Amino acid sequence: MSVSKCLFPVAGLGTRFLPVTKEIAKEMLPLVNRPIISYGVEEARASGCDEIVMITGRSKSSIENYFDRSFELEDILLKRGKNALYAKVRAISDMAEILYIRQREPLGLGHAVLCGEPVCKGEYFGVILPDDVFVHEEPVLSQLIKVHDRLGGSVVALEKVSDDDVMRYGIVSGSETEPGIFRIDDMVEKPSLGEAPSNYAIMGRYVLSPNIFPILHEQGKGTGGEIQLTDALRTLAKSEPVWGVAYKGRRFDCGTQKGWLRANVQLAMEDPELRNVVLGVVNSK
Ligand code: G1P
Repeated sequence: MSVSKCLFPVAGLGTRFLPVTKEIAKEMLPLVNRPIISYGVEEARASGCDEIVMITGRSKSSIENYFDRSFELEDILLKRGKNALYAKVRAISDMAEILYIRQREPLGLGHAVLCGEPVCKGEYFGVILPDDVFVHEEPVLSQLIKVHDRLGGSVVALEKVSDDDVMRYGIVSGSETEPGIFRIDDMVEKPSLGEAPSNYAIMGRYVLSPNIFPILHEQGKGTGGEIQLTDALRTLAKSEPVWGVAYKGRRFDCGTQKGWLRANVQLAMEDPELRNVVLGVVNSK
């Protein structure tokens, strides 16, 4: 695979989940049977990325601990003969090679990506925003990497959203060069409906050119007073191709309490054992 590194910006404060996120990283909230972040790391691995770079911040040590070995726990499980559980715990720390870089100030997604420059310099790299959990037999990042391999340039995942939702996302405009693939010529971060160039929104998966870094160095603050990745991509699109892919699959927005709850119920309903638990609760008086 041409893209071997994947960056995870996980320094956000998780204010939408307070008070839980006062002490726990939002990425560690459970989605059915494992933390939200685990789904993203599994997707990166299944897409051929063998080096994961987490851009973390203060109070995110639970993420590092989760993917690290836990000798004490492993020892206790082995001594108690809980071999299946031991294997499960070991599999987590064996999942991927993970590097951690601290984003010292919450200056926005563009700044978080820039923090990955020392590791990703000079090569194309993936970005996964783990709040967006995708379910499909072919991982969405892998769908993007395939387009990059075929057409070159950067690639973002796109989804058509309703008029009410355009102000929540980066919105693009471009021409559809083949079914489901757009050559992007403009984009706006969280526009009003009047400013939105279309209803196609960027979802949390990217393949980025290393040429994004010099642009990010110069990028001033944008929407919300933050350094926006969308603004830097807009500049990049003027000098090299940025493709948008209407991804195949289902997306669960785990960045809000309602979306997270919906994702848990929906995915539990698809689990043969848990389905009856959900139905039992819903049908009880
Ligand atoms: C970020 C990006 C935005 C993108 C969104 C996808 O926004 O800035 O362009 O559409 O992720 O989830 P955030 O959700 O971090 O505010």
